[in-house]
Amino acid sequence: MAKLDKSSWPVLFVSDQFEGHHGVTEWLNAIVKNLKEQQDITVLFSYTLSDASEVIHSREDMGTIVIDWDMQAFGHEHEKIRHLKLQLQDKSIATLLVKYIRKRNKNLPILLLTERRSIELIPDEVLKMVNGVIWKLTETPEFLAGRIEESVVQYTDTVLPAFFKELVHYVNLYKYAWHTPGHMGGEGFLRSPSGTGFHKFFGENVLRSDLSISVPELGSLLDHSGLTGDAENFSAQVFGADQTYYVLNGTSTANQIVWRSQVLPDDLTLVDRNCHKSLNYAMIITSARPDYMIPMRNKLGIIGPVDFSKIDQNKSYKMSALTNSTYDGVCYDTVYVKNKLKNVNILHFDEAWFAYAKFHPIYRNHFGMEVEDVNKLTFSTQSTHKLLTAFSQAAMIHVKFPDWDGMPSDYGEKFRDCFNESYMMHGSTSPQYSMIASLEVATKMMKDNGTTAWNDIIKEAIELRKKVADIKQSCKPDDWFFGLWQPECIADPDLDIKELAKNQDFWLIKPGDAWHGFAVKDTYVMLDPIKLTFTCPGLTVQGNYEQKGIPAAIVTNFLINRGIVCEKTDYYSWLLLNSLGTSRGKQGTLVAELFKFKELYENEALLTEVFPSLAKCPKYNGKTLKEHCQDMHDYIREHDLVDKMINAANQIPPQSKLPVQAYHKLVEKKVDSIQLRDIQKAGKNRIGAVMIVPYPPGIPILMGGEAILAEGDPRLKYLLYRQDFENEFPGYTSDIHGIERTKPDKDGNVYFETLIIKE
Ligand SMILES: Cc1ncc(COP(=O)(O)O)c(C=O)c1O
Repeated sequence: MAKLDKSSWPVLFVSDQFEGHHGVTEWLNAIVKNLKEQQDITVLFSYTLSDASEVIHSREDMGTIVIDWDMQAFGHEHEKIRHLKLQLQDKSIATLLVKYIRKRNKNLPILLLTERRSIELIPDEVLKMVNGVIWKLTETPEFLAGRIEESVVQYTDTVLPAFFKELVHYVNLYKYAWHTPGHMGGEGFLRSPSGTGFHKFFGENVLRSDLSISVPELGSLLDHSGLTGDAENFSAQVFGADQTYYVLNGTSTANQIVWRSQVLPDDLTLVDRNCHKSLNYAMIITSARPDYMIPMRNKLGIIGPVDFSKIDQNKSYKMSALTNSTYDGVCYDTVYVKNKLKNVNILHFDEAWFAYAKFHPIYRNHFGMEVEDVNKLTFSTQSTHKLLTAFSQAAMIHVKFPDWDGMPSDYGEKFRDCFNESYMMHGSTSPQYSMIASLEVATKMMKDNGTTAWNDIIKEAIELRKKVADIKQSCKPDDWFFGLWQPECIADPDLDIKELAKNQDFWLIKPGDAWHGFAVKDTYVMLDPIKLTFTCPGLTVQGNYEQKGIPAAIVTNFLINRGIVCEKTDYYSWLLLNSLGTSRGKQGTLVAELFKFKELYENEALLTEVFPSLAKCPKYNGKTLKEHCQDMHDYIREHDLVDKMINAANQIPPQSKLPVQAYHKLVEKKVDSIQLRDIQKAGKNRIGAVMIVPYPPGIPILMGGEAILAEGDPRLKYLLYRQDFENEFPGYTSDIHGIERTKPDKDGNVYFETLIIKE
């Protein structure tokens, strides 16, 4: 079993004096020997500054760094140092390294090794940043090894947050478990070969930390008490909330908890039509009466911001739900939103994709918990697992209390008592402790060095943006490459990456700017730099189809076959996320694969060689990749599928029943599964029983209870075109929630059907 103890946190020695026969060499080696053999400490070495900076950049498990102040290796490292973008006026290598470490980690112990006579050469600013100075050859190796070990122990004691630390401690006690879960620390798996395989794969730590709720040392999630309650309070502080609740079943459940806690049957609510399906379920379980905020679309089909001027100010709403940010990275100025939603009582921001916003200044004012002076209860629900590091399904609800004069001092306590009933309706009485620990650790990571980490990620995303723009710009007039949907200034070679990563203004979606294609009248949204929407030849943001086209579905299928999985595919664009797990290597591979696609396209490679899985469709035989792209492009252009998709989402159909009434019909089994083409043929309006959400772009085009019109219904029309598209291009079936497909008929065609409320 891998143990987490002091040997897990190595000491890095940065010195060029480990080789040779002089006294310092022997003395240093004696310290190292003692650390390894007597103190059980792991030791690493860097002989040059550049190597040390690489290690520090790539490893966060250092326990202490010992830096030789007298290191000589400067000349040939000049370029590397420049790369670190540090001030070069100071001639000491150690100073540069100390500054670099402190920029990344304020608490990691740094000890300077120096000759006695050079102490006066160490500037005060360096002395302020280090944790101690060791004079070479003055103290015994044993004593110094002990001091270094103590530094590791003291520091690493602060690294783990409290809940996780106690969990590790508990697991390390090797107790005999006499409680659930039935595998009892993993032992139960060893009774059969498949269980043994499971045990070997996941390892003992995972299984031994899967504990029963009957471990009082760890507190209670359902009561928010003990160390679990402390962890939630810690997250509240770090994420800027008054209270935070850990949810172990995703933002899907978090949204439902929030709504059930505030909304009563028949309450009028205001919901972003670009909402996740969990909001539909939230409306069902609360019997809410929804009005919708409709997001704009550009001509590429990318979903933009809600146009708040269309909201009826004469109505009063109990609660709103706004998706922030959208899939494509459009995020709202939440102060602006607050002012536009004056007729809403309670604000809910669904920030499933945006938990990191608090940790980088570029997102200032653009996330729910930043709404200051709010006189309304405000919720933000976040999938901590999506873009931070929690385990899958681990999410948080953040709450900000209203801020009015005379607020009772026990408001928070009372709020918790009431809110917790809804919380418990959606919670298990057997929570997974490692998920709780992952939420707490995700919080600690953001507290310790969230800003540095996100700055790296944002800068790397901008680097990729610039690289792709540069390749595209350097194409000859009759040549092509993929592009990125982004402000034109990002490609400007005179605009430095650091500046772009710092200044929100570059990313604002401003009225009149051509690049975004949204008819915004105010500046109230920005594009998130880390959401990378790639564009393909074929359709411009102004909505003009080009002669030559490469539909994105073909490119993303190609990338998937090469091990690059995209987040979302639209007709002529696709989305990738830069995140904590993105590396420069991944980015380089992506660009290389895009070049590879272009080469196969230009060289008229056979489609079936590029996509062997399509070989079983006779209609693709003999086609080249280029012909296939053109066939699909011609089809999309001829039927103007992008425009049909936009029309389908832009208008709300007549609301014949509430979502809850439609759901009750389902419970009563008063629904039929009917083919969409039959609805059209029968020429009679019907009512849908369930939500229909086509991907792309993942927006509901029909909610349960809304009418499907037999004539001129843009939603029905679009879905029927999607059906025909799938029959025309086998192998390109995409996900549509709420639609089932029939078995293929004798010609291999499939037809869409959905659940309709019986007459
Ligand atoms: C806007 C939005 N809200 C909520 C969710 C649900 O989040 P989870 O997967 O954590 O349940 C998603 C998931 O994709 C989402 O996109």
